[in-house]
Amino acid sequence: MILVTGGAGFIGSNFVLTWLAQSQEPVLNLDALTYAGNLANLASLQGDARHTFVQGDICDRALMDQLLASHRPRAIVHFAAESHVDRSIHGPGAFMKTNVDGTFTLLEAARAHWSSLQGDEKAAFRFHHVSTDEVYGSLKPSDPPFAETNAYEPNSPYSASKAASDHLVRAWHHTYGLPVVTTNCSNNYGPYHFPEKLIPLMIVNALAGKPLPVYGDGQQIRDWLYVEDHCSGIRAVLAGGRLGETYNIGGWNEKANLDIVKTVCALLDELRPDPAGPYSRLITYVTDRPGHDRRYAIDARKIERELGWRPAETFDTGIRKTVQWYLDHPEWVAQVQSGSYRDWLATNYTGRSE
Ligand code: NAD
Ligand code: DAU
Repeated sequence: MILVTGGAGFIGSNFVLTWLAQSQEPVLNLDALTYAGNLANLASLQGDARHTFVQGDICDRALMDQLLASHRPRAIVHFAAESHVDRSIHGPGAFMKTNVDGTFTLLEAARAHWSSLQGDEKAAFRFHHVSTDEVYGSLKPSDPPFAETNAYEPNSPYSASKAASDHLVRAWHHTYGLPVVTTNCSNNYGPYHFPEKLIPLMIVNALAGKPLPVYGDGQQIRDWLYVEDHCSGIRAVLAGGRLGETYNIGGWNEKANLDIVKTVCALLDELRPDPAGPYSRLITYVTDRPGHDRRYAIDARKIERELGWRPAETFDTGIRKTVQWYLDHPEWVAQVQSGSYRDWLATNYTGRSE
């Protein structure tokens, strides 16, 4: 079996669902169920003996030791993290705790477990660290996309904490020989994306007739990848990635935020027209994010060259599927818009309109 951390979050739950759709190998899913973790994402696995869920914290060393000893996973795929840049600006402490201390704790537990293994079991063991392109900092318009050899220049508390975790993973390989691989991926989108992030926030706000808050001039660029393509990239690296290596994963889909918002509006105009008029009427420019990175872009040639990985979705097919998924799952949207979600909207957006 494999151990997945953070498997009730956006990407982790997509990973677990797509893993079990293409493999009989069981998954032990460890997640603390913070505001971002949601067992409803995994509802289709109810009664499936291949999926075992444990609520717990990666900072809990005793729990990690106990899970590794009793389940003996052949690999750990580590998604668990605090993941939202805006929340890291308002409260960086949780990011240091989970992303840095939690990764350290997990690495130490993995090292102790791996050291106790013998022969083929030891040789086959993998620690797959899931990270982000944000560790490389911000690109200028004419810069080439991020390669694995780019220097780390994180700019937000979130990206600094992820950069720290990447460095720990690298060091545990270099110093102790722990068999690690790391992937640094660009912006994901798709089903189960928590509506604090750009694309799902725009969809749920538009459907509710609320303002669509665009930070600054809306010309910041992100490189978008459909979440299932990220999951297939992780599977490819877990299966064939070279130990100690990092692989960038991206979709070759650089888009300005304003264009993303307009695309979402146009799709909603087509799929769920609003009698009050086009959804783009709701676009509202608001005060920019402090320290906002201007551009991210991924050079995904290494994973393609070494492992033959390519995304299956174009942006056009992926964003259409995504908007349709939110239209088809109003109960999921209603459930995640709990009291704590409303508190977050007040914290991040009140008094921000320009
Ligand atoms: P998410 O916030 O949706 O999910 C994070 C999950 O981790 C949640 O289920 C949460 O309950 C769990 N978690 C948080 N703290 C924990 C702890 N201490 N112990 C155990 N579980 C804990 O995040 P996501 O967007 O799914 O991102 C998953 C991973 O992928 C993160 O490591 C993130 O840095 C990375 N990543 C995300 C993107 C993206 O676009 N979302 C892109 C590249 C990389
Ligand atoms: O690049 C990978 C990263 O992508 C991941 O590591 C992070 O976990 C993930 O959250 C994401 O980070 P971003 O900061 O790029 O994502 P977010 O959806 O928060 O914002 C995308 C862009 O949209 C960014 O330039 C900020 C802007 N934005 C965001 C929100 C929430 C707005 O203009 N308005 C908003 O209300």
